[in-house]
Amino acid sequence: MHDYEAFPPLEVVRASGPVIELVDGRRLYDAISSWWCKSLGHGHPALRGALREQAERFEHVIAANTTSEALVSLCERLLDTANTATFRHSTSADPLDTASHFTKVFFADNGSTGVEVALKMALQAQAQRGQTRRTKLAALANGYHGETAAAMSVSDLDLYASPHGPVMFPVTKLAPVPFRTGPDDPRWMDASEEWEKIEAQLNAESDTLAAVVYEPVLQAAGDMRPYSPDLLRRLRRWADDHGVYLVADEIAAGFGRCGTVLASHLACSGECTSCAADTEDALPNRCVGPLPDFAVLSKGLTAGWGPMSVVLTTEPVYELFYGPYFDGQAFMHSNTYAGHALGVAVAHAALDVYADTDILGQVAQHGPRLRDGLRGLQQNRGDLFDLRGVGMTAAITIKHPDGTPLDPKRRTGYRVYQAAVASRAADGCGALLRPLDDTMYLFPPLNCTPDDITAMVTVLEDALSTVLD
Ligand SMILES: Cc1ncc(COP(=O)(O)O)c(C=O)c1O
Repeated sequence: MHDYEAFPPLEVVRASGPVIELVDGRRLYDAISSWWCKSLGHGHPALRGALREQAERFEHVIAANTTSEALVSLCERLLDTANTATFRHSTSADPLDTASHFTKVFFADNGSTGVEVALKMALQAQAQRGQTRRTKLAALANGYHGETAAAMSVSDLDLYASPHGPVMFPVTKLAPVPFRTGPDDPRWMDASEEWEKIEAQLNAESDTLAAVVYEPVLQAAGDMRPYSPDLLRRLRRWADDHGVYLVADEIAAGFGRCGTVLASHLACSGECTSCAADTEDALPNRCVGPLPDFAVLSKGLTAGWGPMSVVLTTEPVYELFYGPYFDGQAFMHSNTYAGHALGVAVAHAALDVYADTDILGQVAQHGPRLRDGLRGLQQNRGDLFDLRGVGMTAAITIKHPDGTPLDPKRRTGYRVYQAAVASRAADGCGALLRPLDDTMYLFPPLNCTPDDITAMVTVLEDALSTVLD
């Protein structure tokens, strides 16, 4: 609130595609997809149409003891999408194969509560399979999983959690998680070095751990750092050997952001026979990599049209909860707006757009332009370091020319953000950049064009020179 005195909130009147319009007529590129959720930009006509159509019929009915065709078919589509690593139009999903990895969907109403659901389910599942000593959780260091008490406990960012110690519980933080520059990094598929220490930490608690929690491949709030997908393969092997569950928080990284449907799919080597035969016919049996026991999805699920999250899980987990009422095995968790009809309708429309516009192809084609753009800035300046990114993301950190960190008290990133809002460098437009300390990053809508990317990079360049030159 103190900051707002000098830099008041920006009053929004309209938003369309990647651009937000302010009351004073200023136009800003939403370079961070409004906290990473506007995966198809603002005001997408297909999503607006789906929302309107559903609002004409019914907007929300309690989703316990009631159901709807759209709710059921959304579950089927989400499972198909996660199991096959493919976005398909609503009419083309295959009937659920019961041998598939994910077979069940649980609805919650935002990312943090989705994480809580997965953690509670993992802990209860361990107890109900007789593993009563498995009451602890481990999580990757530098992770972020949301703002509710358990989500904060498995997170590792003091900025958000430090005042709330009394409501948090101890969680083992697995380190180190060194960043990789991206898929071109020679060590992209090799986490052997960091694994040694992480494995030792896990081994020390192998009898008491219920689950390991992580943001797959991209630690977003933790300085926008990609790490080696090989770590996920190693975690999967270790978890299988020790009877521990894996919880993948795909909230920021999923739905195409990292270039695959789930970021967890990046752990597929691409070398096994089913991947090598990557044709349409092979899709249903395609290797999708070592998947987690729980995948939490939100943000891109409704493409930022409303709060909603889902937890995907497996048949063996589901069976642990199945039984008569008085056996008390059920998973008792309810959020008022879980499975609400408006969100369901928009999620169907978003999945259609992801499929019909080949969103993964767009990310593959345009994502590298983000990194190229930042590389260009880096080459022209001496104060940008650690270029990194995967899929439709790119990040770079402002430092002293000798590579040492800036004094955080100078709030350089914040000042660059303000300069980007004031900038008119891209045909009269500025940009909403919101850095993570001194890390500037681009996390634009997945469907933005090469011209949009050039415009965002131009604004960043202008803002950096306003503040630093
Ligand atoms: C990886 C991750 N997990 C959880 C959350 C929390 O989601 P929500 O803000 O919807 O509660 C976020 C939000 O940014 C996130 O990035």
